[in-house]
Amino acid sequence: MSHLIFAANWKMNHGPAAAADFLSTFLAHYPRQYDRKMIFFPSAVALAAAAREVKHRPDIEVGAQNVHWEDKGAFTGELSASMAREAGASFALVGHSERRHLFGESDEDTARKCVAAQRAGLTPLLCVGEKLEERERGEAEAVISRQLRAGLAQIQQGGGLLLAYEPVWAIGTGKNATPEDAAAMHGHIRAELRAILGDRGSGAPILYGGSVSVGNVRALLQARDVDGVLVGGASLQPGTWSAIARSALPERESAPLP
Ligand code: PGA
Repeated sequence: MSHLIFAANWKMNHGPAAAADFLSTFLAHYPRQYDRKMIFFPSAVALAAAAREVKHRPDIEVGAQNVHWEDKGAFTGELSASMAREAGASFALVGHSERRHLFGESDEDTARKCVAAQRAGLTPLLCVGEKLEERERGEAEAVISRQLRAGLAQIQQGGGLLLAYEPVWAIGTGKNATPEDAAAMHGHIRAELRAILGDRGSGAPILYGGSVSVGNVRALLQARDVDGVLVGGASLQPGTWSAIARSALPERESAPLP
């Protein structure tokens, strides 16, 4: 059985002290799990503190919210993948919609960041998602295909990879994709992965993100090809996050017979 993945994107919340407080409270009430994995994405300055807190927990890891594609140099304000690794990260978010749309990150940037992450021994979690107007124009699948083909252009086969489908209109809006829409897009992503990376890449876990809550997480995890969730707002309080992460394992929809 493959593990479900619960990923918490804390964005620009929780400094080192708050991150350590959160984790000590959370871990005291969240015993080791054997059927699911958890990844916290704290702020860069809280990475080391978070990594220390979860060190004794093989089911929990931490990741960087963003990395630069160069390993070092004159890039004021940036964080390299190898520095994130040294601070205790095992993963790196790449191409989150806030990076793309607030900070002008291009598809080519995401490709370089995926490679840099892998080179440093981090598993990239590449985020893709369409805007509302793109969905309304019927272009959602084409946008996702473009983001995937560009972002994965230089990826190493077998180097470790996670994907997240995060429709931009669902992030922080309280309006999640329906399980049916998520399943349809995850199926499309799975097919694209097979086309781009071949059989080895097609099994990469695909998370859903965008207004995941205690109320909707189980239905979303039940949808076909949804292998986990990437959660922003609802991951910020230990109680809410624990309720999400303890969701009863759903009966997964089985794939249709060919
Ligand atoms: P949200 O954010 O859960 O607050 O919608 C998700 C994300 O941005 O990863």
